[in-house]
Amino acid sequence: QTVVRRITCVGAGYVGGPTCAMIAYKSPQITVTVVDMNKERIDAWNSDSLPIFEPGLEDVVMKCRGTNLFFSTDVPEAIRSADLIFISVNTPTKMYGKGAGMAPDLKYVESVARSIAEHAQGPKIVVEKSTVPVKAAESILSILEDAQRRSNNNLTFQVLSNPEFLAEGTAMRDLASPDRVLIGGEDSEEGQRAVAALVNVYASWVPRDRILTTKTWSSELSKLVANAFLAQRISSINSVSAICEATGADVREVAKAVGCDERIGSNFLNASVGFGGSCFQKDVLSLVYLCESLHLDKVADYWNGVITINNWQRRRFADAIVSELFNTVAGKKIAIFGFAFKKSTGDTRESSAIHVSKHLMEEEARLAVYDPAVTEKQMRQELVMETSEKSVNKLVTVFSDPYEAAKDAHAIVILTEWEEFKTYDYARMYNAMSHPAAFFDGRLLFKRKDIEAIGFHFFGIGSAPSHLSEVGYIL
Ligand code: NAD
Ligand code: UDX
Repeated sequence: QTVVRRITCVGAGYVGGPTCAMIAYKSPQITVTVVDMNKERIDAWNSDSLPIFEPGLEDVVMKCRGTNLFFSTDVPEAIRSADLIFISVNTPTKMYGKGAGMAPDLKYVESVARSIAEHAQGPKIVVEKSTVPVKAAESILSILEDAQRRSNNNLTFQVLSNPEFLAEGTAMRDLASPDRVLIGGEDSEEGQRAVAALVNVYASWVPRDRILTTKTWSSELSKLVANAFLAQRISSINSVSAICEATGADVREVAKAVGCDERIGSNFLNASVGFGGSCFQKDVLSLVYLCESLHLDKVADYWNGVITINNWQRRRFADAIVSELFNTVAGKKIAIFGFAFKKSTGDTRESSAIHVSKHLMEEEARLAVYDPAVTEKQMRQELVMETSEKSVNKLVTVFSDPYEAAKDAHAIVILTEWEEFKTYDYARMYNAMSHPAAFFDGRLLFKRKDIEAIGFHFFGIGSAPSHLSEVGYIL
């Protein structure tokens, strides 16, 4: 039996940091070192202000850091000393060459495989934690086996797939009590020994029946499919939200009625301004690209529909803002509440707020942005990447007080479902705004009647304007 005593994780990001903190916390007998080539990020992990905001994370890091949890930039040493190495680097959508805009960019994963090949000594279990396309483990293994053939220092490698299912904002809860841990490995005796070694790491705190072991390829594919199913649910309910707006039905009522069916379930049926985050779009596109590569065009089209609806939902919402504001927003101040891709995180990657802001900036709206967890620098960077520095400087102001953001604005636009947004004194905001004042709820946080009672003109995703809800939709 292989016993894991030293774990190294390459990639100190949203996955590597929290996952390793949890392993260190739950398994004091294991020494965990998280390495990254980004020195600034590692310095932050070693400081009082961690590089990512995740409820409960700081507590766990402070308990273990310096005892059995370490953060370092010394990748070679961390590789040499480990029994088991997680590859937890980013796999963003490739922006160049073949597969640009669709396929995941595997250059970071490959560079870690090459570092392992260069620096490893003795037996190593290498674990894909990053989300990768099916058969990525084969490429990693080819690089490692080449090193093994050329080496004379007892090198052996097993490559496992162990995708991560945590969601940001609830990462620590998800890690402490996962629905399942998935471990894929080879059928061979050595492969199964490596699988058992990783199973034992998780078994310190995860019930054994929640640890699934599969073939490597099933594990890799399951991660893409799980995200595709989740994203598909959101696109499905968002497509229904458009029907609701046109007919007088209410998407909240429809979601509730539909979700009561146990076979469908009630989770993840919140209509919204579109899903964001670093995973859903990237992983669905990766699945679509995989299908295209396998000449499964109908399957590719099917999953691509999830992305089409998501882009359309963002556009539709931005268009509704323009049309409800008398078809022109040029020069109008618009308060944007929420820039993170969801609540309880400071992450803005692929946030729908970026896309809605971009559409409004194209119409020359002046945006007054407020988010409780996103820094001004980050907002500006995201918007500059989508538009230009010139238009960001001209059109975007970032506020640290929502009341100031709303002052003199023609509209309030809710783009992230932060709980604190429910607690504001909107009557006070209304009085300080330009009139007529409008309210656009992209997150189903508010009831139409409450907001209209203040005096706002209200537009909410998936709920029809009052005249439609009253008389119904007549064909
Ligand atoms: P991230 O960008 O936050 O972190 C990745 C880190 O890897 C970066 O800090 C980068 O500097 C580092 N890195 C890249 N190449 C390196 C190298 N050769 N050597 C050392 N360090 C290197 O990414 P993330 O959000 O943690 O995601 C990591 C992987 O996990 C991705 O494949 C992602 O799809 C997957 N995933 C992410 C989430 C999530 O919620 N963020 C959830 C499940 C799975
Ligand atoms: C997702 C998966 O949930 C997680 O299992 C995987 O490991 C990584 O990708 P994450 O992107 O962190 O996690 O957040 P998630 O809670 O899934 O939300 C993604 C996006 O969908 C957010 O923009 C969120 O606001 C949106 N969403 C979610 C909806 O619009 N409606 C919903 O009902 C749920």
